[in-house]
Amino acid sequence: MSNTTAGGPGRIAGDGSVVARAPAKVNVHLGVGPLRDDGFHELQTVFLAVSLFDTVTVRRSTGLSLEVRGEGTADGAGPAGVPSDSRNLVWQAAELLARHAGVAADAHLVVDKSIPAAAGLAGGSADAAATLVALDALWGTRATRGDLAALAAQLGSDVPFSLLGGVALGTGRGERLSPVLARRRWDWVLGIAGEGLSTPTVYGELDALRAAGELPDGAVAASTEPVLAALRSGPVSALAAALSNDLQAPAVRLRPELRRALRAATELGAAAALVSGSGPTVAALAEDEDGAARLATELAGAGAFRAVRAVHGPVPGARLVG
Ligand code: C5P
Repeated sequence: MSNTTAGGPGRIAGDGSVVARAPAKVNVHLGVGPLRDDGFHELQTVFLAVSLFDTVTVRRSTGLSLEVRGEGTADGAGPAGVPSDSRNLVWQAAELLARHAGVAADAHLVVDKSIPAAAGLAGGSADAAATLVALDALWGTRATRGDLAALAAQLGSDVPFSLLGGVALGTGRGERLSPVLARRRWDWVLGIAGEGLSTPTVYGELDALRAAGELPDGAVAASTEPVLAALRSGPVSALAAALSNDLQAPAVRLRPELRRALRAATELGAAAALVSGSGPTVAALAEDEDGAARLATELAGAGAFRAVRAVHGPVPGARLVG
């Protein structure tokens, strides 16, 4: 982890605002081990940050206030199911950073969502990571990237990766990261469902399927080596063959129409398709940028998804904008 400050002062715009953005992620490998005593599962995962971003704008205020706009809004109000109070992870991120830095938690936060909520894309984690970076700059806390990573891990399992970006191997509950070198760009189409899935429910379904003997025990989690080798050297067919997600079976059990959506993606030309994280987003791997654009059009026409987005990765983690 670098020792440099994450944002630092001097990035405050003329109107007093600071803007940061953070990416969505896809798990190209998600091996889920046993349930731990603390209620989390031991993971072996490989994260890839992709080019779908949420933006957080912060400005000085008295006390904390929060406005959530964007993805999922039919009427310009907050996206369905995304709270705009202390239940939102960005609020908790602001309070945590203020406590860490010994400053008053004074800020107005505006979250502009492009990443759908409860979609398996770490949208809430992206918002929290962007908030840490933006408020560090607004408040001049001079936190190091290491400081922010430690705060991120307290907020949620995926928040450290939203901060780091790129490609990383995640262990522990997903918060312990080792960056991975990826030499090339990977193109994907994200198929976004109309209704989200709750992460704890999907993990719970996996435990139930394992307890019933319908799925193998978590102790035999597959190795990350094939997917890491594929990421290092391509070709697309190698990554396609190495994609795996232990949460896919429970997500499909909870949302049977995912089976058809996954099949549609491969029938319409994806090199492979898998459920992203705990779902229900389907991540379809394309040959290249043109292939992703074609696949996005085909998938939009097939009607299996509420929305489709052509994205690529790796992209950087949470960063100041402007
Ligand atoms: O860390 P985060 O708040 O994102 O986790 C949400 C929920 O997902 C946890 O409360 C837990 O039920 C489940 N989870 C898990 N094992 C992990 C990560 C998350 O069981 N490694």
